[in-house]
Amino acid sequence: MKKLHLSVLASAVLSATAPALAYEAGDVLIKFGPAMVAPESDSQSKILGLQGEVVEVDDGVGFGISGTYMMTDAIGVELLGATPFEHDIDGLGTVLGGTRVGSTEHLPPTLLVNYYVPVSDVIKPYVGVGYNYTTFFNEETTAELDGLLGADYTSLSLSDSHGVAYEIGFDIPLEDNLVFTATAWNVDIDTTATVKANSNLVEKIDVEIDPWVYMVGLGMKF
Ligand code: NI
Repeated sequence: MKKLHLSVLASAVLSATAPALAYEAGDVLIKFGPAMVAPESDSQSKILGLQGEVVEVDDGVGFGISGTYMMTDAIGVELLGATPFEHDIDGLGTVLGGTRVGSTEHLPPTLLVNYYVPVSDVIKPYVGVGYNYTTFFNEETTAELDGLLGADYTSLSLSDSHGVAYEIGFDIPLEDNLVFTATAWNVDIDTTATVKANSNLVEKIDVEIDPWVYMVGLGMKF
């Protein structure tokens, strides 16, 4: 009898400190929080016809939001959205080194299928795979680039990207329908940058951005 009371007490304490979390078919999860896009790779192309002259895309910070519809208790379909991420583009190399070449903004809507690994009710890890479409806008160049190319004005445009996205993350329940969530996406984003000086084509550069996107925040279950 005493043992039983203790175990009831123990489970009450456990459930008070670690609320259980169950996702079921038909649930809708909305997750949101600050997000960062950290490009993994630089352009390895030659720029200005010079070996070793490349551009690199810097980190961008935004606000992410995702909606997931649970098709079954373990499989969800997720749409990831965000406020636009702004990135500076820097030059590397002897000629371009230290030059801020320009900047761009992008939106990375991504559709994924997630599998919530049923390991525990107190932490829900998940993995996913899907499709990313990235569109760039507000591309700008700098006076530094104008000067470097000896032009009155320069322009930059980045082509849209289609690619595969992978996801890994976990949810931890805080209250009945509220979770802490942390997710990382790896996204294949490849674009062609077209640089013009005085409206004349200077260079087309293939840029592999292939970023990690990180989001930490809260999620609500409806
Ligand atoms: Ni790529």
